[in-house]
Amino acid sequence: MIPNSIIEDIRYRCDIEDVISSYVSLKRAGSNVKGLCPFHSEKTPSFVVYKDTQSFYCFGCGAGGDVISFIMRQENLDYVSAVEFLAKRAGIALPEFDSHTGYNDGPGRARILQMNVEAAKYFRSMLFDENTGAPARQYLKGKRALESSVVKHFGLGYAPLGWNNLRDHLRSLGFTYDEMVAANLCSKGEKSCYDFFRGRVMFPIIDVSGNIVAFGGRVLDDSKPKYLNSAETAAFRKNKNLFALNFARNSSEDTMIICEGYMDVIALHAAGFTNAVATLGTAITSEHARIIKRYVSKAVLAYDGDEAGRKAADRAIRLLGEAGVDSRILVMRDAKDPDEFIKKFGREAFRKLIDESRSRFDYIIETVLKKYNLENADDKIKAAGELCAEIASVYSKVERDIYIQKTATALAIDPKSVKHDVDRLIGRNASYEKKRQTEELIRVTSGISDRVNPDYAKSPKAGRLEEEILGILMLHPEYVSIKIDDGVLCEDDFFTGLGRRLFAFIKAKMELDGFSIGMLSEEFSNDEVSRAVSMQTARRDLSNDTDAYKTYSLSLRNETSKKSDMSLEDVILKKRQTK
Ligand code: UTP
Ligand code: MN
Repeated sequence: MIPNSIIEDIRYRCDIEDVISSYVSLKRAGSNVKGLCPFHSEKTPSFVVYKDTQSFYCFGCGAGGDVISFIMRQENLDYVSAVEFLAKRAGIALPEFDSHTGYNDGPGRARILQMNVEAAKYFRSMLFDENTGAPARQYLKGKRALESSVVKHFGLGYAPLGWNNLRDHLRSLGFTYDEMVAANLCSKGEKSCYDFFRGRVMFPIIDVSGNIVAFGGRVLDDSKPKYLNSAETAAFRKNKNLFALNFARNSSEDTMIICEGYMDVIALHAAGFTNAVATLGTAITSEHARIIKRYVSKAVLAYDGDEAGRKAADRAIRLLGEAGVDSRILVMRDAKDPDEFIKKFGREAFRKLIDESRSRFDYIIETVLKKYNLENADDKIKAAGELCAEIASVYSKVERDIYIQKTATALAIDPKSVKHDVDRLIGRNASYEKKRQTEELIRVTSGISDRVNPDYAKSPKAGRLEEEILGILMLHPEYVSIKIDDGVLCEDDFFTGLGRRLFAFIKAKMELDGFSIGMLSEEFSNDEVSRAVSMQTARRDLSNDTDAYKTYSLSLRNETSKKSDMSLEDVILKKRQTK
């Protein structure tokens, strides 16, 4: 089995829209993109690519999946080969594969940490080497405007150009090639191995105990990939580490500033914001959120101002919120990221941005208010309409009530009217949802039965509940450990074969080191993966699903306990009789 961390890495580096657009011509449709499905012939596009969940779904033929299953179908590859295909495209080193023992774990944590210390020392000496380090010193001082005290504080270094520098140095200290590869400091070559980081400024990643667990490396020019990061090793778990947490944890602030890049963090620390951290070339995970909660109860998200940054901030707010960290969004104007902002406008301006940062809903209100002229009645109605739609999509009633109040105040209208409109929208969504479900039911129970999940027809009610639950779980796999009445949901609560298998798979992955939709292809057929993605796609627009998850789970448990012993024949017979 390929380690989860690598799969995550590949999915993060291989943006689904990027990959698919080299096969299909995609056009923007709302917040998603659309094109002609490559898996069946069609004249009008029904193939949709979702950037936020990094998945695709064809409403025509039902094919769906993530970037890995796309490549499996498109290039006709098995799972492992598709992963290798994408890893190559993204410049990610796969751990060594042994056909007998699988992916080899190699040397232990202690040995890797020892090697990392030696590597960091070596990189630092190269940075300060008069000749070798000159271009890197020039880059840090000139382009990035870093004082040498900051460079030393973060232990930055330089991996020189050439293929064997670090390798030969570590060899002279008694480390073996296999160990260097296992530490991800070298990549495996034909006969021996070669340096993984070449011609890059090196950022050591230090855990809270002071161990150097991994490295990031940046090119000095515009070549790609801009950053290389260590893959996970026995000493490094991406989901558990944050860049500069070793410093930020000592800050006296009850807030952490979370940003996207290494250089953002360094610039912030240099400007006195020593409570800044960044994730390491991955999106924030629930694990990161729980770690942050150990130190602070508030966070300021200083993400890039582009669409990707906003999506990432939305995800971060949700995960942090679930961990009990209250977060606000910092909005930068005229600069792409905190590093650039501080360079342009200075630290006081950045402090002002922190003070002005807003909760997500406040931020939305602010944007809407700016867009419209409230003196004008038409405009005011439009503004109210947009805010009501936003509120209607929130699942929690308490949260909705707060937002209703805020909207009423901001627009100077009666909260009762806002509430009325919100309720009407929720009602409309619900009846739409009901209609969709009925159609689905008819589709599934009529004609020949459901090939992918034949049990569905035996109890469409249980089947539908399962799909709701699994859809939510695929968006929020961490819910698998949520208690519903007296215990967590278990395999036996599921009625259909496919449902049981999907649930068992998600649960097992979460007990290991996390689930992502891409892993399904390890164990499920392409049709089954498509079905799973369709469940996820149907749920994607609802936020805050813990309550929904609990409600559905209770009903499913209830439904399955009355489990019908009807065979499929019975069902069809009954259906004929009622016609
Ligand atoms: P950005 O592309 O936003 O770059 O990546 P940046 O941090 O502003 O970089 P500079 O200022 O040009 O140096 C944000 C983060 O995403 C990860 C890195 O962790 C980076 O800091 N990343 C980005 C990678 O891991 N690999 C890449 O090729 C690009
Ligand atoms: Mn930057």
